[in-house]
Amino acid sequence: MERARLVTPGGVNSPVRAFTAVGGTPRFIGSAAGARLTDVDGNEYVDLVCSWGPMLLGHAHPEVLAAVHEAVSRGTSYGTPTRPEVELAEEIVARTPVERLRFVSSGTEATMSAIRLARGFTGRDVIVKFAGCYHGHVDSLLASAGSGLATLAVPGTQGVPESSTALTVVLPYNDRAAVTAAFAEHGDRIACLITEAAAGNMGVVPPEYVEVGGDTGGGAPRMSGFNQFLSETCRRNGALLVSDEVMTGFRASRQGYWGIDGAHEGWVPDLMTFGKVMGGGFPAAAFGGRADVMGMLSPEGPVYQAGTLSGNPVATTAGLATLRLADESVYDHLNAVADTITKAAGAALDEAGVPHVVQRAGTMFSVFLGLTQAVVDFEHASAQDTAAYAAFFHAMLEAGVYLPPSAYEAWFLSSAHDDAAVETILVALPGAARAAARSAKGPA
Ligand SMILES: Cc1ncc(COP(=O)(O)O)c(C=O)c1O
Repeated sequence: MERARLVTPGGVNSPVRAFTAVGGTPRFIGSAAGARLTDVDGNEYVDLVCSWGPMLLGHAHPEVLAAVHEAVSRGTSYGTPTRPEVELAEEIVARTPVERLRFVSSGTEATMSAIRLARGFTGRDVIVKFAGCYHGHVDSLLASAGSGLATLAVPGTQGVPESSTALTVVLPYNDRAAVTAAFAEHGDRIACLITEAAAGNMGVVPPEYVEVGGDTGGGAPRMSGFNQFLSETCRRNGALLVSDEVMTGFRASRQGYWGIDGAHEGWVPDLMTFGKVMGGGFPAAAFGGRADVMGMLSPEGPVYQAGTLSGNPVATTAGLATLRLADESVYDHLNAVADTITKAAGAALDEAGVPHVVQRAGTMFSVFLGLTQAVVDFEHASAQDTAAYAAFFHAMLEAGVYLPPSAYEAWFLSSAHDDAAVETILVALPGAARAAARSAKGPA
């Protein structure tokens, strides 16, 4: 780590890896297989980060590796169209509501390009996002709410000029009144609203469902989800809805969060963004959506977008192998393991007297310590007890379980999390809960 810090700011190539939020020194991982990471000192950990989401099938899955080895043996990049990128695009089109898509190399590039396309398609300039939703480090999306709810945003970090966030409106997640007010104020200028399909970057905070009257037949009340509401609001105002599934895509369910929410009638995103799982552990991401909107993209249309390594044959081969292997049985397994771990974590925290809230979005989940009410937005998520989480994290690490080194992250599982891996987690939880109790603040 000392050598790393000399040559790289913070010793890391993405800030959350530095353990800043939990203290201590990051583990340098030398290899990984299945559900386990091995650090360069030979210590083994059951991995609940899974490279921040991508490793849906676990590390070094033999069939994914075989496909990658075969692809690499034919060269690694040609800068021309290739077969795997078409096949991966077809697989994504078959699983999601997107009609056409384009590959890029990171989630950041996907959301950046989707916003440019939405602006080009609508001829409008303002964009709307939610506090606590992360869409990568795009200048216009690293924004914090301005002085009033419907006012334009201010930069969320140094280095972003005010002019880059002056066309962004930042609203509280799940707040329908704030969305309505922002569209009343800026409606005819809003090009798009971008939202995580279910928020995963402030911990897991799903979109809220409310009863809207009437019933669906069997006496069940008709429900409207926050995403449906956003879709209707965008449609009424001539804006596009961009549903960011970089984290949830092919992860929350086989069809992403869309597959869960799609059970509820009445909304289709105009554009979607994907990353993580669809790259099978390689840098690959995509944005896609309505055929008429995607037709605006260069070279068919006037909105420019490009990339030297976009649709890279090795990355798309890894993604294709991953998605083809990820059938319903994988998600059934992930859901069953998520049930077991969330129940055990809840029981251990109850036993230790630590207030907590566990939230799920399909197979994804996270645990908020120090809270007792369901978390619906970033302000509420920010009231969690991060010191208790740091104690919990380190106790789990000592016991051989690698959790996200931040309280604001989802816990990720893989199909390789077998009974032995789950057992390691179950054995570790009670001691970690007691460690959290020792540093807990009490309920917020
Ligand atoms: C929802 C969401 N969108 C976009 C991104 C950015 O993706 P990348 O880190 O590949 O740039 C992330 C990364 O965590 C994400 O979770």
